[in-house]
Amino acid sequence: MSGPSTYEPKYAAAKWMDQRLPIIRMGADFMTFPSPRNLNYWYTFGGILALCLVVQILSGVILAMHYVADVDKAFASVQRIRRDVPFGWLLQSMHAVGASMFFLAVYMHMFRGLYYGSYKAPREVIWILGCAIYLAMMATAFLGYTLPWGQMSFWGATVITGFFGAVPVVGESLQEWLLGGYSVDNATLNRFFALHYLLPFVIAALVGLHVWALHHVGQNNPIGISAKTESDTLSFHPFYTVKDAFAIAVFLVIFAIFLFYLPDALGHADNYIEADALKTPPHIVPEWYFLPFYAILRAVPSKLFGILLMLGAIVVLFVLPWLDTHKVRSMRFRPIAKWFFLIFIVMCFLLGWCGAETPDNVVPVIGLGKMTFYTLSQIATLYYFAYFLIILPVLGLVEKPIKRPDSITKAVLGDSHRDAGLAPAE
Ligand code: HEM
Repeated sequence: MSGPSTYEPKYAAAKWMDQRLPIIRMGADFMTFPSPRNLNYWYTFGGILALCLVVQILSGVILAMHYVADVDKAFASVQRIRRDVPFGWLLQSMHAVGASMFFLAVYMHMFRGLYYGSYKAPREVIWILGCAIYLAMMATAFLGYTLPWGQMSFWGATVITGFFGAVPVVGESLQEWLLGGYSVDNATLNRFFALHYLLPFVIAALVGLHVWALHHVGQNNPIGISAKTESDTLSFHPFYTVKDAFAIAVFLVIFAIFLFYLPDALGHADNYIEADALKTPPHIVPEWYFLPFYAILRAVPSKLFGILLMLGAIVVLFVLPWLDTHKVRSMRFRPIAKWFFLIFIVMCFLLGWCGAETPDNVVPVIGLGKMTFYTLSQIATLYYFAYFLIILPVLGLVEKPIKRPDSITKAVLGDSHRDAGLAPAE
């Protein structure tokens, strides 16, 4: 896709380096990478995510210099960071709000991929690496949430590690091994801290592979038709560096609004109470970005089955490239799949809402009277799995796509590219 490198070292030092380690060539090729000319703003989330990762790692490393991973001191050390460490309030909020922003961006990025069929050949490995990144992000966020040692940290960790205890035969030993004891305690906090520090670097390595795979096969685009000629593409710089920079600026404004005006809006008030093993909070709820999975977990009465469902909800993402077999990538040209996708998004939000509520609470549903959140979460869970396991595979066989443009150039410029002297599409 990218073709042979066109980089020519201009200076003697650059030439010397190029013959030994072509790192400048790599950067130059990255900048001139031919990208489809029709990429819209949904394609800026990859860059935004890269920024989020850098922000989390930099703020996290500095926080770790002041944090104390000891059950008697952890809570106070975070308070000290917020009150006494110079700019500690900023770093701590940046890291906590940053986690939410990271998930917001990753969900946009994933929904984009789902809509434009970016998981289809030849981009299956990009997608699978993305799923691995997402899994690692979830693990990192969960481990990090334990560190401030507030009530939600403690009880969240107790609930989640408790799931492992439900695994038949080895469950109890597994749980004990994870905790480093019989309950969430000092050994747990220390290993969670160590892993929380390690995982972002694993994510960074996975992102490296993700982007490498992307550069190997080339980027998909909103119409899902591969770039065939030079006129279908634009150089990454300046066209997409500028577009990404603008999107990053807008994203940073939203980030800043939360950071400076609503730093605690996305967290739970109970986490400002120090962990107390003898006082269970009335509602144990995870952070917002885990709520849909929490709803899936609670959608069935059996603990083990709930865990399997929750894991299944992620496993289906990994095998999606083989579930959706429709030859047309972009849902723009799939009139039926488009609607099912829209309902899928609504169901994901519904799952999130159900995860935040007590299952027995009721809510009026138009035309159906009152329903408990438990029933609603069952409906939404059913749809979530049906979408991947039934709807997409069946539509792959039966859905007739609408007419697609012949090429990216034609989709963007119509026939005017002929007048402009550009090469014809085919
Ligand atoms: C730290 C997290 C991540 C980073 C930094 C990242 C980075 C990127 C970048 C820079 C691109 C190219 C620009 C763009 O298309 O937006 C990209 C593309 C892509 N990413 Fe990610 N990504 C991350 C997570 C994920 C996740 C969780 C998934 C899916 C589960 C995913 C799936 C994809 C796919 C399928 C593409 C190709 C898009 C296309 O060509 O249409 N990524 N990613």
